[in-house]
Formats: sequence, structure tokens, C-alpha cells
Amino acid sequence: MGGYRVPVMALRANAKLELMKKVPLFEHCSKKDLQRIAELADELPLSAGRVLIEEGERGREFFVLVDGTVDVRRKGRKVTTLGPGDFFGEMALLSRAPRAATVTAATDVTVLVISDRAFVDLLDRMPELWVKVARALAERVSDNESGTP
Ligand code: CMP
Repeated sequence: MGGYRVPVMALRANAKLELMKKVPLFEHCSKKDLQRIAELADELPLSAGRVLIEEGERGREFFVLVDGTVDVRRKGRKVTTLGPGDFFGEMALLSRAPRAATVTAATDVTVLVISDRAFVDLLDRMPELWVKVARALAERVSDNESGTP
């Protein structure tokens, strides 16, 4: 009976790694890096309608969307929809500003959740992640500045 536990755990860990390999954010990560990220990230299935991030709140987590779509809203107005492979929650963690938008699951979703400390630690160790995160951050800040009167 107990003998099944180890293989099942290994299968789960492999499934998470397989999901991560499809995420462009992680495309240049080595296998070792991916394993490290997999250890830090919680894989979470959430139902449609679930609010993952609330505008104005303090940020504590970074999210990578592996399945489904989420809507991003600022001041009640939809800014964009993000899909599999996209990430969000980086702005508050990097700027220490409150969450810039509300993010809601538009469908049932699967996300990888990484704590703020683990996120900073990953960026420190893996410069290949930095460029992608910085690029998204710059685009989003600029979108939000041009979109608000
Ligand atoms: P954060 O401010 O931590 O929490 C809300 C998240 O929504 C934000 O990080 C970004 O990841 C995301 N976000 C905010 N504005 C935009 C935008 N204009 N386009 C895409 N994503 C955004």
C-alpha cells in the first residue's frame, strides 16, 4: 500500500515539470533550474470566477498560468485577458506598490503560485528570467499609464 506513495509523488512532480516546460517564461531554464522552480511553486487548480489578485491589496505571490484564462481589470474596466503560459503578479512584488489590477479566473484555471521571497530568489539566480519579466512589466506599466486619464 504505502509503496504506491513514492511513485505517485514522482508522477506529480514530473507532471508539474512537464507543465513548466511549456511556459515561455521558463524556456531557457536548465533542467536543474526547472526542478528548483518546481520545488518552490505550488500547482493550484481554481474554479472560474475565483479572484486571484485584488487591485489595491498588498502583493505576496507571483502566478504563472498553465491552463485556462484570466481577466485583468483596472478600476472595473477589463484591460486584457491572459492565457496559458502568461504570468502575472510581478508588478506589486517588484515595485512594492499595491496590486495594479484585479485578476479573476475567466475559466477553470491551473496556476503555479510562487511566494514573493521565492520569486525574488529565482530572479536572483536565473538572469534569463529577468528579461522576460522586465519586458512584461515595462509593457504593462506603459499600458496602464496610457490607459488611465
Ligand atoms: P500586480 O500589480 O502585482 O497584480 C495585478 C497584476 O495584473 C499585475 O501585477 C500584472 O501582472 C497584471 N497586469 C496589470 N496591468 C496589466 C496590463 N495592462 N496588461 C497585462 N497584465 C497586467
